[in-house]
Parts: sequence; structure tokens; C-alpha cells
Amino acid sequence: MRVVALVPAAGSGRRLGAGVPKALVPVLGESLLVRAVRGLLNSGMIHHVVVAAPPEAPEEVRAELNPLGPVARVVPGGSDRTESVRLALAEAERVVPDAGAVLVHDAARAFTPVPVIQDVIRAVEGGARAVVPVLPVADTVKQVDSSQRVTATVDRSHLRTVQTPQGFAVDTLRAAYDNAGDAATDDAGLVEQAGETVTTVPGHAHALKITTAFDLAIAETVLAAEPV
Ligand code: CTP
Ligand code: MG
Repeated sequence: MRVVALVPAAGSGRRLGAGVPKALVPVLGESLLVRAVRGLLNSGMIHHVVVAAPPEAPEEVRAELNPLGPVARVVPGGSDRTESVRLALAEAERVVPDAGAVLVHDAARAFTPVPVIQDVIRAVEGGARAVVPVLPVADTVKQVDSSQRVTATVDRSHLRTVQTPQGFAVDTLRAAYDNAGDAATDDAGLVEQAGETVTTVPGHAHALKITTAFDLAIAETVLAAEPV
């Protein structure tokens, strides 16, 4: 089965506040984007990567990815993540029309271990229509009302936090984007809205999303030094 990966990397990184788009922020000399794309390619299971670049910086992103070879293509991204994925999906369908599986992987999750990527792909190859890497919730979770008063302690044994890459049969993701109604915060959410089953594989702490300066500090001190 041919596998393509879409990498939404068009965000500005407002919460990180680095002064450049987040995907281009270097960690020990290498940008989050290069690290994320290299991780995907190191799985040895992906034929093409399509990156949605900040609309103002597609050339900069192309130059950044050049050393990784011709398998990474760049399209200008959209005004929100959903639009960026939609644009990258259209390009992937042009470049690899016979792809059977598609991964969507945030550039901001640059330190995702390769085995997580491989597990997601294997699950789609094994017949799953939609797969997400998940982690159990470590903290106790409370529900509050509009006055911030606690109304319940939620049973966390059935709760999971969700990471990327998320993997899909191509026609499943295409149908979800064609029928996208309410905004979802992840791609699997759109698939759920379409009534499809989403399955899970174990995620990894190192697949954290770099959102704030705190996350970047963790990456600089812990993650970048470890092979992925
Ligand atoms: N993303 C994208 N296109 C957008 C917005 C976000 O491709 N218009 C991508 C980001 O580049 C990132 C991923 O979606 O890889 C997750 O988004 P997030 O972590 O929120 O990144 P930013 O939107 O850049 O950060 P912020 O919300 O702090 O501005
Ligand atoms: Mg954002």
C-alpha cells in the first residue's frame, strides 16, 4: 500500500512567540519541520510527504527541506489547520493518485518516535479506516460550571489525549473533508462526524506538541539529544 503524509506547518506559532513561523524554529540547529519530516521518512514506509507551508514562506520552507530529497513537496497552507490539511490532501491526491493510506502529522510534533509512526501505518495497512496515537490522562480531571465550581470528577479511565500522526484510508479522509461540518480540533474528529470508527495505538510522551516556550525548553534539554 502506498502511503503519503501530510504535514500541516502553516501556523504562525503565536503562543510560542519566536518571531518566525513555529515550523521554522530551530532546536539544536534543526527546525521543527525538518525534524518532523525526517521522522516520517525514517519510518521507511512513506512514499511522499506534502508540507503545508506558511503562505508567506513557501520558498523558505522548500529550501529548508531540500536536503531531505525530492520526496517532500510544499504547498502554501491556509488560514486555519483544517484548510492547510485540505490543501495538502489535494496536492497528495495529484502526486500519488494511487495512495491507499494517508497520515496527517503536525510539524509541531517534531520529536515523535519512529515506532509510533510505524504503528499507525501498520494499523491502516491492517484494515483500520482511521487510527490515532493516544496517551492515558495522568491528572485527575474535574468538570466545572460557568462559575468555575467543580460539578464532577470525571472517570479518567476512559479518557485519552490524542497525538499525531493520525492515519487514514485515503478515501475515508477524503470523504470526511468533503463532508466537514462542525469544526473539529483534529482530523479524526471529522472522521468521527462522518460516522466512521476511529481506533487507537499507544502514543508516546516525546510526541508532545511544541506549543509554548516551556515545551521548546523541554525539547532542547531532553528530546533533541535522543535519537527518534
Ligand atoms: N497549522 C497549519 N495551518 C494553520 C494553522 C496551524 O498548518 N493555518 C499547523 C501548525 O503549523 C502546527 C499544527 O497545525 O504544525 C498545529 O497547530 P498549532 O500547534 O496550533 O500551531 P500554530 O497555529 O502555529 O500555533 P499558535 O496556535 O500558537 O499560533
Ligand atoms: Mg494554532
